[in-house]
Amino acid sequence: MASLKEATQTRRTFAIISHPDAGKTTITEQLLKLGGVVREAGTVKGRKGNFAKSDWMEIEQKRGISVTSSVLQFDFDGKRINILDTPGHEDFSEDTYRTLMAVDSVIMVVDSAKGIEPQTKKLFEIVSKRHIPIFTFFNKLDRDGREPLDLVDELETTLGINAYPMNWPIGSGQILAGLFDRYHNNVEVYRPASESERFLPLNDEGVDLAKPNAIQENSLWDDTRDEIEMLQDAGNQFDEAAVMNGKLTPVFFGSALRGFGIETFLQTYMQFAPAPGAKNTTTGEAIAPENEQFTGFVFKIQANMNPNHRDRIAFLRIASGKFERGMDVTLQRTKKKIRLANVTQFMADTRENVETAYPGDIIGIYDTGNFQIGDTIYAGKHEVAFEELPTFTPELFMRVHAKNVLKQKSFHKGVTQLVQEGTIQMYTAWDSGDYIIGAVGALQFEVFQFRMENEYNTEVSLETMGPKIARWINPEQLDPKMASSRNLLVRDRYENPVFLFENQFAERWFTNKYPDVELEAKL
Ligand code: G4P
Repeated sequence: MASLKEATQTRRTFAIISHPDAGKTTITEQLLKLGGVVREAGTVKGRKGNFAKSDWMEIEQKRGISVTSSVLQFDFDGKRINILDTPGHEDFSEDTYRTLMAVDSVIMVVDSAKGIEPQTKKLFEIVSKRHIPIFTFFNKLDRDGREPLDLVDELETTLGINAYPMNWPIGSGQILAGLFDRYHNNVEVYRPASESERFLPLNDEGVDLAKPNAIQENSLWDDTRDEIEMLQDAGNQFDEAAVMNGKLTPVFFGSALRGFGIETFLQTYMQFAPAPGAKNTTTGEAIAPENEQFTGFVFKIQANMNPNHRDRIAFLRIASGKFERGMDVTLQRTKKKIRLANVTQFMADTRENVETAYPGDIIGIYDTGNFQIGDTIYAGKHEVAFEELPTFTPELFMRVHAKNVLKQKSFHKGVTQLVQEGTIQMYTAWDSGDYIIGAVGALQFEVFQFRMENEYNTEVSLETMGPKIARWINPEQLDPKMASSRNLLVRDRYENPVFLFENQFAERWFTNKYPDVELEAKL
């Protein structure tokens, strides 16, 4: 039996972020394959509808997508890996952002033909604020892509992070020959004739020690050497401390589809990816994972996993101590005592009842309505309250009302509960008091509408307002006359005033007109 400390040290909990189609699913499959979880790539969840497990939300089945993030756990190289899924496409939502609050590091997958795309940038910004390590994987090297130097340059300038290429492509697309591995000082051959030729060792000057081969005779080899020399002279130094606080991203190239460069990437990633760290509480105390007291926080609630039972699952990230099935804990917000008997863990696409779990692991607690997002639970007597999860700035807005005026009561109840759960954000128009809901992804509205109908028996009508830029204004500086049709004044659910600007132009116009007024974006 592993000690708490040993078990914690082997945990690696991370998420993969990317723009849709960059290859997140393909890379996840390859990682699971390396972990021995699936035998063939192409069998993972989510894709093109094969996820439709009978007890998942109807909406999910209809669209063949995974509405809310799930967790995959497997072992590799003596490490216990937890991958938290961050949905993209239309299923992008605040859940995606919140999931990033529960990981210790992040892999950013970028399509090497497309470079940094909008969703990657958005997710990067959320991650970057947490100062956690970010590892970059430029994917699809088997296709003709952009020049590697160009990609790295774009990464640094667009995202404002320093990069250190751990390996460097020798050609790409049709003429892809291999990867020059700067970290292991060898060449990984793209299509080796045999396993023994897969890695060719290099000497200190980066010269191939093995017998001449296709790569060295190729002029690509000279180009690669020149570029490597340039990186050596003009590029960033590798600095582990800078990696650990998210200031420097190690960069890898490869092809998820061809399984090329993935194993080396995972091995190297596992060397640097951090084990779970301490977590701050509202009293300023930091709880180390090795602390014997069991604690954790809820970062996601998935409702209606089984419509027959109307159950929900609260996803809990264990922050400290050992979880044992049947243990008694306290829900900090309500002080309610709860026995954790019905708890699940996620292995590939099956769910298993879990007996023990450790810091860094994610457990799903069957819930009948006790939990809210951001809740802390703890065992024992010492009260622990972790810092709140941040509120994210919604970008899409809808006016909402009950179709049937007689349903006002259940309408209010439903809205209140769904807002508390974090399904959507709630605002009211300053003058009229109309309800306006906000989200970071369009699917949140659909989930909201579906759940209002199915759980609260209330049909709602949604009237789109389109994308807006939400900015919180210092209440002392507010004059309601500042509002106009291009900057709507609303209240958030804590009664704070917020302007919804039509676009950046409207926001700039406002800041020029009222240069002293403080506007604030949430995360
Ligand atoms: P996502 O989860 O980030 O949205 O991307 P996903 O892995 O689904 O990959 C998107 C498409 O890109 C898929 O093709 C996939 O096969 C392809 N792809 C992923 N990695 C690589 C790679 O290294 N090289 C090449 N050439 N293609 C790659 P698709 O045709 O859209 O989907 P499918 O029909 O194959 O599932």
